[in-house]
Amino acid sequence: MFVPTYQGLSAKDFFRSAGLPSQWFPFNAPHALRFYRARNAIYYLFKALCASRPNLTVLVPDYYSGNEVLAMRAAGARLQYCPVGRHMQLDPNDVERLCARDEPDVLYVIHYLGWPQPMNALVELCARRGMLLFEDCALALLSELDGKPLGSFGDWAVFCLYKTLPVPNGAVLVQNTAKLESLERLRLRHVGPASVLGRTAELFVQRARSRADRLGAALCAVKRGLGRAAGALEVHRTPVGDMGFDVTAVDLAMSRLSERVIGRLDFAEIRRRRVANFRRLSQGLRGRASQVLPDPVEGICPLFFPVFVEDKAAAATALRQRGVDALEFWNDGVEADGLEMSPAASFLRAHVLELPIHQDLTPEHVDYVARQVSTLNLRMAA
Ligand SMILES: Cc1ncc(COP(=O)(O)O)c(C=O)c1O
Repeated sequence: MFVPTYQGLSAKDFFRSAGLPSQWFPFNAPHALRFYRARNAIYYLFKALCASRPNLTVLVPDYYSGNEVLAMRAAGARLQYCPVGRHMQLDPNDVERLCARDEPDVLYVIHYLGWPQPMNALVELCARRGMLLFEDCALALLSELDGKPLGSFGDWAVFCLYKTLPVPNGAVLVQNTAKLESLERLRLRHVGPASVLGRTAELFVQRARSRADRLGAALCAVKRGLGRAAGALEVHRTPVGDMGFDVTAVDLAMSRLSERVIGRLDFAEIRRRRVANFRRLSQGLRGRASQVLPDPVEGICPLFFPVFVEDKAAAATALRQRGVDALEFWNDGVEADGLEMSPAASFLRAHVLELPIHQDLTPEHVDYVARQVSTLNLRMAA
């Protein structure tokens, strides 16, 4: 069996009649701009903020992907770090203490894997201190807190679409309160067809492989061959899901193909399936894995099922050998000395492994993942 990390595409996703995604946040937001990747949106927003406030200082959680930090730095922002606890939550008291010490202009909040940060306290804190609030929802599309969508609490929010949806690229920047005109005036260019079609082919192959391993593996080999041929012919592709920040590729728009697929997706069903797969895996692993986050309450759309494991690289390799494409999450920071990290952030980087629970997985896939994790005895001693 093969269990891919991410959801794939099926022909249905192209030809289903268009649904009503515009009822869902952020697609229904009055001021939403589309980009190729989330880091590009972050770059443009912080560049605009830096233009109006020289020495803009941003308080950023010390557990981060790296792409958002690189984008803000490239935009000219000064960063200060705030500790995140072992269960991926900010403590508003820590935030308050650091705000009193450093007087940042912006609080940057990351909603990890769909679970909300303590937004009521953080919104109140920012309002009281006259700070701007940014929500990074790259990992939290379709998630809510008390019936209100994540990304609608702050002044701005960014979403990465291709992490949750079967699209080759795409991100949304929402302007909730202050609308920056320079962002509205941006003229983005379309990426070349090799980038869109190459990634789209990968999404088809992933899905075929998760349904029929042998056929999918053969398709995968064909796809790799085509990729190598394209490389040899120097066909340029702008990747998604990589690490780094390239200022020469920052002005790229989301592709029309992503737009078409998004218009045909059933978001309620995607969230329902992710929640059902998460709960099934949680049941299947009961006591045999070290679950990082609690089972999702109403409104949460989980991205992965994170577990603590002793040796992340060894566990990921063993699972991959058994067909489970587990993801090593955020191994490294981007600060040269790593001194920004609290002990909890270092612990998360060393021990969090992500198990797939996306909408394409059937109960058989989920039970298979539970069996492999149990057999490998990956539970981490407390
Ligand atoms: C928390 C967070 N923010 C921002 C980004 C940037 O997303 P993208 O890969 O779409 O640029 C990522 C992923 O890289 C992320 O994990």
